[in-house]
Amino acid sequence: MTTYNRQDSVYLQAKKEGLRSRAAIKLRELDAKFHVFRRGQRVLDLGSWPGGWLQIAAQRVGPRGRVVGIDLQPVEALPAGNVQIFTGDAGDPLMQEKLREALGEAPDLLLSDMAPKLSGVKAADRARHMALAELAVGVSREFLAPQGKLVLKLFSAIESEMTFELKKTFKDVAKYRPQSTRKGSSEIYAIAGRCRD
Ligand SMILES: C[S@@+](CC[C@H](N)C(=O)[O-])C[C@H]1O[C@@H](n2cnc3c(N)ncnc32)[C@H](O)[C@@H]1O
Repeated sequence: MTTYNRQDSVYLQAKKEGLRSRAAIKLRELDAKFHVFRRGQRVLDLGSWPGGWLQIAAQRVGPRGRVVGIDLQPVEALPAGNVQIFTGDAGDPLMQEKLREALGEAPDLLLSDMAPKLSGVKAADRARHMALAELAVGVSREFLAPQGKLVLKLFSAIESEMTFELKKTFKDVAKYRPQSTRKGSSEIYAIAGRCRD
């Protein structure tokens, strides 16, 4: 579980449902609006720890689907049989090869909730946010099935630049801030679909 705002209602709801993160509630809200999940899909989840998004994805794709996740930090295994989790850097080509193998086929959905460790220095933190968002977009270009979708966490400091970047690859780009987002957070999610030829 995340360590902040332990008493907020979203955190308490997540805890009550046995979800590993309050972020899981945000993803569920996003899915209710954009319908990003389908039964039987292959999903790749970048930045999976502690595993809240993996839990939602595993439920939504069902036993015929497959969910593959990766994080720098080890993620405790999930009971769901359709989930495989790797520990490592999503930008490492060797790890990417393992992710590809585990997926078997091009994923229909790429999720990235990756967030860097922050230094408190504005310019340095912006660069870290940018690097992770660019990494996710790069993975989407290489991995995603042609009609695949990307859900990407952005922060306000990089929103306009990354939106421009996303529009080079995807025909449809929407932005959404779930109501369950913590007050004061500058997070927003991009939902991008239909790769350009
Ligand atoms: C906000 S958390 C993800 C929460 C997760 N979606 C959930 O619901 O449980 C962001 C994660 O991104 C991971 N991360 C940051 N850079 C990464 C990288 N290069 N490769 C893999 N994971 C990374 C961090 O270790 C951190 O655990």
